[in-house]
Amino acid sequence: LSREAIHRGFDVIGVARRGELLQKMATELGGRFTPITCDVADAVAVQAMCDALQKTPDVLILNAGVGNFDNKHELDLELHRRTFDINYFGALNVIAALFEKMKTRKSGHVVVTSSLAAYRGLPLAAAYCASKAALTTAVESMRLTYGRFGLDFTTIHPGFVKTPMTDTNTDPMPFLWAADKAAIYILDRVERRCKNIVFPLPIRLGSALLRLLPAWLHYKLLHIKGNRRQTD
Ligand SMILES: NC(=O)c1ccc[n+]([C@@H]2O[C@H](COP(=O)([O-])OP(=O)(O)OC[C@H]3O[C@@H](n4cnc5c(N)ncnc54)[C@H](OP(=O)(O)O)[C@@H]3O)[C@@H](O)[C@H]2O)c1
Repeated sequence: LSREAIHRGFDVIGVARRGELLQKMATELGGRFTPITCDVADAVAVQAMCDALQKTPDVLILNAGVGNFDNKHELDLELHRRTFDINYFGALNVIAALFEKMKTRKSGHVVVTSSLAAYRGLPLAAAYCASKAALTTAVESMRLTYGRFGLDFTTIHPGFVKTPMTDTNTDPMPFLWAADKAAIYILDRVERRCKNIVFPLPIRLGSALLRLLPAWLHYKLLHIKGNRRQTD
């Protein structure tokens, strides 16, 4: 996304925790890329980072996320908290830190990366699905609430994209897109201020269908088999 945005003439501030990788990107992308090391889960650090910016960004692409999987046998509350801290509060920390400035300026485009996992609960992904569903719903609500201040809100619901996150996934990933293809698709629509960006088409249609399934059929198709008592 950063590479494609710079190619389109944007100046990009890239935020992540691993400074050495950001520095590598800065070397590759040149002077239009400003690296900032920050953990978006740390609200105080995010506020300090945003206060130090010389100019309020025109577009916020809130993409930081982790794909934590649930334990098959135990409910790990800490994993839920960690996942929400980054996937949900990470995005909200940045929006909150710049909200007054965007409101005063009467413009700002907030783009969040959610997931098709926001649409329905999936096995072994309660924390991830819930964090993305919360993000999708919060942004939909914010659009209705704060649109009158001149703010635009876009939610991205990607299917599978080849990144370090999916590189560790051993399950089938139908219609996997290369990251640069996804970046072009996303930025074309961000520039048009689309409200909802969903891709690729077959996964989009499949997940629309999944959303319509009654709970009993959704359960029948997706539940993890085994280790269940007959009386359950
Ligand atoms: N790849 C897919 O198929 C797919 C599908 C649907 C949705 N998504 C969503 O797309 C987004 C990007 O995912 P990806 O596939 O590119 O994953 P990735 O390869 O693991 O990249 C995640 C990025 O988020 C940054 N990050 C994570 N935690 C952070 C934190 N606390 N503070 C600041 N930066 C943080 C990471 O940098 P550092 O580790 O250096 O901080 C990294 O740059 C995520 O929100 C993910 O849920 C991905």
